[in-house]
Amino acid sequence: MAGGRDVNQQSQIGPGRDLHVAFIMDGNGRWAKARRRPRPFGHQAGAKRAREVVEACPDLGVKYVTLYAFSTENWKRSKPEIIALMALFRHYIRKTMHELHAEGARVRFIGDRAPLDRKLVALIQELEALTARNDRVHVTVALNYGGRDEILRATRKMAQAVIAGQLRPEDIGEDTMTHYLDTAGLPDPDLVVRTSGEARTSNFLTWQSAYAEYEFTDTLWPDFGRAEFAAVLDKFGLRERRFGGVTG
Ligand code: IPE
Ligand code: IPE
Ligand code: MG
Repeated sequence: MAGGRDVNQQSQIGPGRDLHVAFIMDGNGRWAKARRRPRPFGHQAGAKRAREVVEACPDLGVKYVTLYAFSTENWKRSKPEIIALMALFRHYIRKTMHELHAEGARVRFIGDRAPLDRKLVALIQELEALTARNDRVHVTVALNYGGRDEILRATRKMAQAVIAGQLRPEDIGEDTMTHYLDTAGLPDPDLVVRTSGEARTSNFLTWQSAYAEYEFTDTLWPDFGRAEFAAVLDKFGLRERRFGGVTG
């Protein structure tokens, strides 16, 4: 069954609902441009919003929140923008590490860490280790993440396991794939929200979102706040999810 969810599960908003909401945080550059400021100014404002969204999750019944911070395609951007983004990631991890831990957040990163700078990888590992036993809200940050890249890396790992005699090709099923993906252990997203008016997935959670609901809003990410988060969840609560079956 998709995501292991019951076909007849009723939607209801509020704490105790254990929803997984994933955000494609888009529009930082346009937000900065509208203010005649450089693009990294938009990324700084966006990082603040991400922090607020995480903080709002427990009250809204969101147990899992996933944030698309940097895609495998974002290396195509200018060097100064990439440098500013990587510096912002390091700064934000340092700044928020202990408060996230105090809030009971378990933070994990998905994506390929190999090309990231060593200082950033060390901070990621420190944050993951510090918060590993927390369970109030599960925060997943997609950094140098691409859905296709994730599936390719998982496929390579499975091929190696087959060669090592640890896996039989005939035993490879959906559960096996799920286990080898970066998101192993996380439920599939219930809802994917993309800001800034673009209606595409840009290589985000390709395998995991097969049955996700999508919400596209014109709001630019640095303008996305708690009230709109709650409104999006209200709207999601009204949808009937059939997972290929028939209800009612
Ligand atoms: C999203 O905002 C943040 C990242 C991709 C890192 P953008 O930087 O894509 O902003 P726009 O789409 O150019 O406005
Ligand atoms: C998707 O936004 C990636 C992140 C939000 C990190 P982009 O702005 O990179 O996506 P495209 O280029 O519009 O598809
Ligand atoms: Mg964009």
